[in-house]
Amino acid sequence: MDFSVWTRELPELAADCLVLGVFEESELGAEGKAIDTASGGRLQKLLSRGDFPGRSGDTLLITDLPGVKATRVLLTGLGPRAGLTRRTWRKALASAAAALGRTRVASCAIALDRPPAKELDDYYFGRAVGEITAASVYRINDLKTGRKPPTPALKKVIAGPARKAQAVQRGLTEGAAIAAAMAVQRDLANLPPNVCTPSYIAEQARALGGGQPKLRVRVLDQAAIRRERMGCLLAVSQGSHEPPRFIVMEYSGGSKQQAPVVLVGKGVTFDSGGISLKDPGAMDEMKYDMSGAAAVIAALLLVASLRLPLNVVGLVAAVENMPDGKAVKPGDIATSAAGLTVEILNTDAEGRLILCDALHYARRFNPAVVIDMATLTGACVIALGHHHAGLMGNDEALQQELFEAGQRADDRCWRLPLTDDYAEQIKSNFADMANVGGRDGGAITAAAFLGKFTQGLKWAHLDIAGTAYTGGTTQKGSTGRPTPLLAEFLLRRAAR
Ligand code: BES
Ligand code: MN
Ligand code: ZN
Repeated sequence: MDFSVWTRELPELAADCLVLGVFEESELGAEGKAIDTASGGRLQKLLSRGDFPGRSGDTLLITDLPGVKATRVLLTGLGPRAGLTRRTWRKALASAAAALGRTRVASCAIALDRPPAKELDDYYFGRAVGEITAASVYRINDLKTGRKPPTPALKKVIAGPARKAQAVQRGLTEGAAIAAAMAVQRDLANLPPNVCTPSYIAEQARALGGGQPKLRVRVLDQAAIRRERMGCLLAVSQGSHEPPRFIVMEYSGGSKQQAPVVLVGKGVTFDSGGISLKDPGAMDEMKYDMSGAAAVIAALLLVASLRLPLNVVGLVAAVENMPDGKAVKPGDIATSAAGLTVEILNTDAEGRLILCDALHYARRFNPAVVIDMATLTGACVIALGHHHAGLMGNDEALQQELFEAGQRADDRCWRLPLTDDYAEQIKSNFADMANVGGRDGGAITAAAFLGKFTQGLKWAHLDIAGTAYTGGTTQKGSTGRPTPLLAEFLLRRAAR
C-alpha cells in the first residue's frame, strides 16, 4: 500500500473516497464542514434529516457529492465530541477502514478530527493510520475451495491534516510495517496444526529471513537440541511424531559491542495437553499455542525491514504436545538444559518446560534484556480477560518500559505481582521443582517457574493467552498481538 500526507484543499483532492468524522448529534468535524461548504450544504442537509447521528462504530457511504472531486464520501461516527479519545478515534478509523473493505475504493483520504496532540501527536497519528488501514486489508489465509471474494481494492491512503508532515509520513511507514509483521504472525497462527508443524515454522522462519542481509537464521534439529541437553523441551516433544525444532534468528543492526534484546517465543503448534489431555471443547484453538513464536518471528522481520540500529535475537522453541505410548507421564522427572530437575506433574503445563530451556539458551548472548512471549496459562485469561496481556518479570525498569510501550501502541499489558511467595507453590518432594503449583495464582506460579531459570538476567514475561487470538466461532482468528507492543518497545530502544 502507498501512504502519503494530503496538503491540498480537501474538495480538490482526487481520491476514490474522503473519510470524514461526525460527532454525535450529527455534528460535522472541521474537515467535514469544509466539504459541506464546497457541496453547497448537502452534507448538513443529510445530517439534519437524522440519518447519521455519529454513533461510534457506525459508517455511511455517500456518492457523487457535488463540488467535491472525490467520487465518494464515507462518514464515520466519532461518538460524543467531549469524549473524543485516542481509543474512540481509533475505533472510528477502524470502522471506516472495514467499511472501505466492502467497496471497490482503491484510494482514500483520511480527514477525521483528531484527539488533542498530547493524546495523539503527528507521529502516532500517522502510525495509527498506517497500522489500522494496512491491517484492514488482512484476510484469513483459509483453505476454502469455493469462489474467493475479490481481494481488497485499497491501495493508496492519504492522511491529514498534519502540522509536521514528516512525522506523519514516518508514522505511516512504520505503522504499515507493523501491520505487515502482524500479518506474518496471523498467517502462521491461523494455519491448521497439521500444516503449521514445528518443521514448518522453522522453514518459514528461514524463508522469511532469506531476503534480509543482516538477519541470520539457524535451526537446531532434534539431534542438536539433544546436544544442548534441553531435556524439558524434549520431554514435551517425545509424545509427538513431529520432530521438535529450535530456531535462532540473529539480527545485527547495532554495533558489535551492543548487548542484544533477546525475544523468546512459545511455539507449541498443537497443545492437546498430552497424557493430561485437555477437554475436547475448543481444543482446536490450541493451534494458537504457537502465537508467541509467531510474534518473535514477526518482530525479527520488522526490525530487519525497518533496519533498526539494534541487535535483536529471536529464539523459538517449536514442539507439538501429544499423548502417545512414548509421551511424558505425570510423575516423570526431566533435566533442563540449566541442570535443574523438574517433576512433570501435569503434562499440560508444557509451555514453561520448553521456555525454561529456551531461556537458558538466551544466556550465551549476554543479553541486555530477555522477553518471553507465551500463550502460557488459562489462569491469565481468568485474571485479565482479553484486553490486557499479563506482564511479569524480575526487573522493575524493564516491566515499566513494556507497560508504557503497550499503552502507546494501544496493545496493552498489565502487571501481576511476581513476588517470592509464589515459588513456594512449585516445590517438589522429588525434584528441584514441580511444573505446576495448583490452580491458585496460576499465571504467576507459571512465571515463578520461569523465574528459576532467569536469575541474573533482566527478564520479562508476557502471558498472551487471552490476547493473541479470538476464540469462539464467528470471529475466530489470530489478533496479531503483541506485535504492536513489541514494535513500540523496539522502536523506542532504537531511538535511544
Ligand atoms: N496453552 C495452554 C494455556 C492456554 C489456555 C492458552 C487457554 C490459551 C487459552 C497451556 O499450555 C496450558 O495448558 N496451561 C494449563 C496449565 C495448568 C495445567 C497448570 C492451564 O492453563 O490450564
Ligand atoms: Mn498446555
Ligand atoms: Zn500450551
